Amino acid sequence: MSLKNRIVLNCLPRHVAIIMDGNGRWALQKGKDRNYGHRKGVDTVREIIETSAELGIQYLTLYAFSTENWNRPWEEVEALMELMVHSLNNETKKLVNNNIVLKVIGDIDRLSAGVRESLDYTLEQTSKCNGMTLIVALSYSSRWEMVKAVRDIAYKIKEGKIDPANIDDKIFENYLTTRNIPDPELLIRTSGEIRISNFLLWQLAYSELYFTETLWPDFGKEDLYKALIEYQKRERRFGKTSEQLHENGN
Ligand code: IPE
Ligand code: IPE
Ligand code: MG
Repeated sequence: MSLKNRIVLNCLPRHVAIIMDGNGRWALQKGKDRNYGHRKGVDTVREIIETSAELGIQYLTLYAFSTENWNRPWEEVEALMELMVHSLNNETKKLVNNNIVLKVIGDIDRLSAGVRESLDYTLEQTSKCNGMTLIVALSYSSRWEMVKAVRDIAYKIKEGKIDPANIDDKIFENYLTTRNIPDPELLIRTSGEIRISNFLLWQLAYSELYFTETLWPDFGKEDLYKALIEYQKRERRFGKTSEQLHENGN
């Protein structure tokens, strides 16, 4: 049976998040510069977006650039930003044709006017789509997001609009950039690194984690199928016992 046929389509994760890692190493292995790897990584992005939408995944979050990535050599940061603009300009039509809504999470005020302009255009063009939601984490880190949430809540308290006694998970979530987006059931990280790197720390509380040695430019649809098959073998207990889950017919 093909890998694709082994996926149980009515038990797909609603939301898949991916830490796309390994572009630099992929390029260096081929004797090329790191930016060559980033350019190749865009082809993988395209394939994974198309495959996810085709399967019926509702939310796909891609970690494209972290707060910490601003500390890379400026030539690399600049090349990544240019690649972002180029990809947005090239792909907007296809996103719309595939009915994909784009959302961005992150500190976009740090992006240049040029990048923001391209982003705004694609955000606007895809805003009426109602198929898969593609969330790009750009200039994003979870600590930035949580500190911002705390700050915004503190202002509301000062204005008398929130009573501290009422703050719970739901209120806190409303102040995160992922407001109204369900938590990812599955997190994939490529390139063999076994860490979260400041990504969705709150939202991943109960996600299934899947790590693969494959470098991002080599990650293809078959690799996504493998991750989904592995996810479907996991028992998601949320603190309960296995017996409890079976008693309830889950
Ligand atoms: C991931 O690949 C892309 C970004 C973080 C922007 P890397 O650039 O981190 O590649 P490695 O980890 O150095 O191989
Ligand atoms: C994580 O990759 C960020 C993105 C994929 C955008 P990094 O390559 O920056 O992560 P670390 O620094 O190795 O943990
Ligand atoms: Mg890396």
